[in-house]
Amino acid sequence: MCGIVGAIAARPVAEILLEGLRRLEYRGYDSAGMAVWDGEQINRLRRAGKVQALADALAQHPLDGQLGIAHTRWATHGKPTENNAHPHMSGERLAVVHNGIIENFESLKRDLQAQGYEFSSDTDTEVIAHLLDSAVEAGDNILEAVRKTVARLDGAFALGVMHQDYPGELITARKGSPLVIGVGIGENFIGSDPLALLQVTDRFIYLEEGDVARLKRLGIEIWNATGESVERPVLQFQHGSGSVDKGEYKHYMLKEIYEQPKVVHAAMEGRLGKDSVLEQAFGAGAGEIFDQVKQVQIVACGTSYHAGLVAKYWIEDLAGIPCMVEVASEFRYRRVVLPPGTLFISISQSGETADTLAALREIRDRVLASLTICNVPGSSLVRESDLCLMTNAGPEIGVASTKAFTTQLVALLQTTLVLGRRHGLKPETEARIVEELKQLPGLLERVLGLDPAIEKMSEAFAEKHHALFLGRGTLNPVAMEGALKLKEISYIHAEAYAAGELKHGPLALVDKDMPVVTVAPRNEMLDKLKANLQEVRARGGELFVFAGSSQAVEPEEGVQVLELPPVPGILEPIVYTVPLQLLSYHVAVLKGTDVDQPRNLAKSVTVE
Ligand code: G6P
Repeated sequence: MCGIVGAIAARPVAEILLEGLRRLEYRGYDSAGMAVWDGEQINRLRRAGKVQALADALAQHPLDGQLGIAHTRWATHGKPTENNAHPHMSGERLAVVHNGIIENFESLKRDLQAQGYEFSSDTDTEVIAHLLDSAVEAGDNILEAVRKTVARLDGAFALGVMHQDYPGELITARKGSPLVIGVGIGENFIGSDPLALLQVTDRFIYLEEGDVARLKRLGIEIWNATGESVERPVLQFQHGSGSVDKGEYKHYMLKEIYEQPKVVHAAMEGRLGKDSVLEQAFGAGAGEIFDQVKQVQIVACGTSYHAGLVAKYWIEDLAGIPCMVEVASEFRYRRVVLPPGTLFISISQSGETADTLAALREIRDRVLASLTICNVPGSSLVRESDLCLMTNAGPEIGVASTKAFTTQLVALLQTTLVLGRRHGLKPETEARIVEELKQLPGLLERVLGLDPAIEKMSEAFAEKHHALFLGRGTLNPVAMEGALKLKEISYIHAEAYAAGELKHGPLALVDKDMPVVTVAPRNEMLDKLKANLQEVRARGGELFVFAGSSQAVEPEEGVQVLELPPVPGILEPIVYTVPLQLLSYHVAVLKGTDVDQPRNLAKSVTVE
């Protein structure tokens, strides 16, 4: 999950590449580098640390030229040092940037060492540089060399390659890792995602698995996995580039939290009729597919997995269809038993998460159909699934996912309704929920109004090392998501439990140093939840309750209660997520961590 950018133009490319790296920094940010052809030779600059370190170095040692490749890294093989940073070179004449993992790099490395190649890094990528060089030395041109080399690689890759003897060519290839071509006028680009290139173009070609492409300033040629020359469509990017700015906000994460009223609206736009969800939004033939669904299998990772867990409650409750939910990294590697009529639903912000994509590929021939709930148009999951429902959250830059989650929930609720209506969900129930969904943007606005009180509450967490999150029903996955947010960005160890499980273990941990956060809407589970909270109080635990009414849980010494507006039951998991996002955000700010780019994490996990 590194970021790649490359350019071939009639103007200097270093600034374009640098801006691309800044926009890709969410994919990896422990080291960065760039190589540019200056008309005579390839010059390279690399730095450990963030893209800014490379920018500072470039200010001292500018790289001039009209052909270049650049990379921001998230270390897999070898520490985040300058030596391990990309681009990697073989001798002086060729440079390569790579995103992905080469699984057979050790045996390739042994072969190359036997041929006399010396390695200057611990990366898997360096084998690609030397394999390319060895093919060119044997007489291949650089395009043939790339073709031959990728045929020898096991694993996942997206590559950008340039060679001194082919100064008019930028070669690229992808398999298992994302890569787009940005189509310009008299110039062309490559990037790990369109965001990286929106400053120079809004027209993109999404390469397919196994594609190899040769970019020249005035043309693009593409070959598929079997070597046939192919045409791929040029697609217009849908979001304005303005939406990737931080604007008045201190962090992308805060901006994205505040965008939620707007984006949940976008996630419903054009999909809600007067009293029903319009199933055409899912794609051609959706109706016939939904008619045959007998069970649902959801697969996702991270935050998206939590959205799936909420959907399980909805689908079983409202549609009466069995629904299983599993993390993709487990699902893809075990023998799964799927009854006939299974609808496979993948949930993914990026549409490129390696495990989720592999799960789809593993299963698609054995299911009734596949549906993806996804935020990135044209991404691999969207292209490879039978149906899709876009979440329309717009680019999400903060590594900790916020607006992607709430819009996933909106999309999943719509999915539940279209499935439900075929399984006995009454039209009046659907109409009521559709009406309630329309209130969601306003409700989220009101919850955002609690921000100052949540910021105050966050002070109690700054010195803590652990926290426990409790919820019941659909609020149980919300508690899990709250704990994940806190650990991701504030590095406080946080765990979530279904409140009813408290006495089966976690209660042993509760004392004055273990704050307990609870989401407690005013629903039929409230009395049970209150009993759980008493168990915490009796052990001296400090409670932070987001409640549907202050009367429901009385504030007292050691119990802080924040009252949320009344929320229709079905919307509770969406609305109660927002205060937990704000809480984590403010704790992280108090702790001075890197909110948008927390250590060791990356936004888009395109490797296993
Ligand atoms: C990474 C991100 C998470 C995200 C997860 C799944 O871990 O940091 O925010 O939830 O990947 O990503 P996806 O793009 O498939 O939703």
